[in-house]
Amino acid sequence: MIHCEGLVKIYKSADLEVVALQGLDLRVEQGELMAIIGNSGSGKSTLLNMLGGLDKPSAGKLTVDGKDLLTFREKNLVKYKRESVGFVWQNNARNLIPYLTALENVELPILLRGKRRKARALELLDAVGLSHRVMNRLSELSGGEQQRVAIAIALANEPRLLLADEPTGSLDTSTSNQVLDLFRTLNRTIGITIVIVTHDPMLARKVDRVVQIRDGKTSAEMIRKAYYSDELAELAAESVQKEAESHIEYAVLDRAGRLQIPAGYLDNDSFKDSNKVRVEMEDGRIVLYPSENRKTS
Ligand SMILES: Nc1ncnc2c1ncn2[C@@H]1O[C@H](COP(=O)(O)OP(=O)(O)OP(=O)(O)O)[C@@H](O)[C@H]1O
Ligand SMILES: [Mg+2]
Repeated sequence: MIHCEGLVKIYKSADLEVVALQGLDLRVEQGELMAIIGNSGSGKSTLLNMLGGLDKPSAGKLTVDGKDLLTFREKNLVKYKRESVGFVWQNNARNLIPYLTALENVELPILLRGKRRKARALELLDAVGLSHRVMNRLSELSGGEQQRVAIAIALANEPRLLLADEPTGSLDTSTSNQVLDLFRTLNRTIGITIVIVTHDPMLARKVDRVVQIRDGKTSAEMIRKAYYSDELAELAAESVQKEAESHIEYAVLDRAGRLQIPAGYLDNDSFKDSNKVRVEMEDGRIVLYPSENRKTS
C-alpha cells in the first residue's frame, strides 16, 4: 500500500531550511494496522501529510496504492485526496462543523446525491457505533463521540487508506480505548489499511506493528508477537508500557547497509567510550562487540 524510499522533505522559509524527513524508508502492506511513534519534531506529521497528498516530498520515492506521489499532477492529486485517503486529526475542529448534526456532518463529504447520501451517512454512523446520536449537534456530543463522527467522515468515500494524526491526543484513556477498538474493528471488517501517528505507548501496544521515527528517519520497528484478543483483558488492568515485551523489536537496515541501533542498547558502558564497534559474523548472525581501545603501534 505504501512504499517510501529515501524520502526527503525540506521546509524552506526566507532565512531557514528545516530538513523534516531525511531519507526515510517505510513499507506498509495492504490491510495493515500500524502506528508511527517518535518524539515531537521527529517528522511524524510531515510524513502523514506526504502520504495524504497534502504536501509534496522534496526528493526520494513515494508510492501509495500504486500511485507515484512525486510525479502526480495537481488534478490527480485532488482526486487522490478526495477518494483514496481518509484523514482523522487530533483536534476535531479540523474534522467537523459544530453547529451541524452528526448526520449532516457525515453527509457533507459524500459524493452521492439525495436519499442515497442520507442512507450512506446513516450506515457510516452505524459503523462507528453512533446510530443513537445522529440527530444531535456536534456541540452536544462528547469528545470520543465527536472523534467517531470524524472517523465516519474519513470513511465516507471508501478510501483504501486511513491516516490518523494523534487521533486520541485529546481524549481520556477509556475514550481513547474505544476509538482504538473502532480502528481495530474497521481494519478487521473492511480491511482498510490504517496508519496512526501517536505519542501514546498504550496505543502503540494495540496495533500490529510500530515504527519509530527519529530525526526524520525510521529507526526501529516492533512487530506484535501475541494476539490482540489475548491481551485485551490484561491491558485493561495495567497502567504503563511494556511495549518491548509485547513486541519483537526490529531495527531498520537500509539498502546501503546502515543500521540504527534502538535506544537503550548502547547504554552499556563498554559501548559508550568509542564510536566504533567490532563486527563479526558468527553462525549466520552479525554480532557487534565493543571496540577494544588497545593502542596499536
Ligand atoms: N510547514 C512547516 N514549515 C517549516 N518547518 C516545518 C513545517 N512543518 C513542520 N516543520 C518542522 O519539521 C520538523 C518535523 O515536524 P513534524 O510536525 O513532522 O513533527 P512531529 O513528529 O509531527 O511532531 P509532534 O509530535 O510535535 O506533532 C520540525 O522541526 C518542524 O518544526
Ligand atoms: Mg505532529
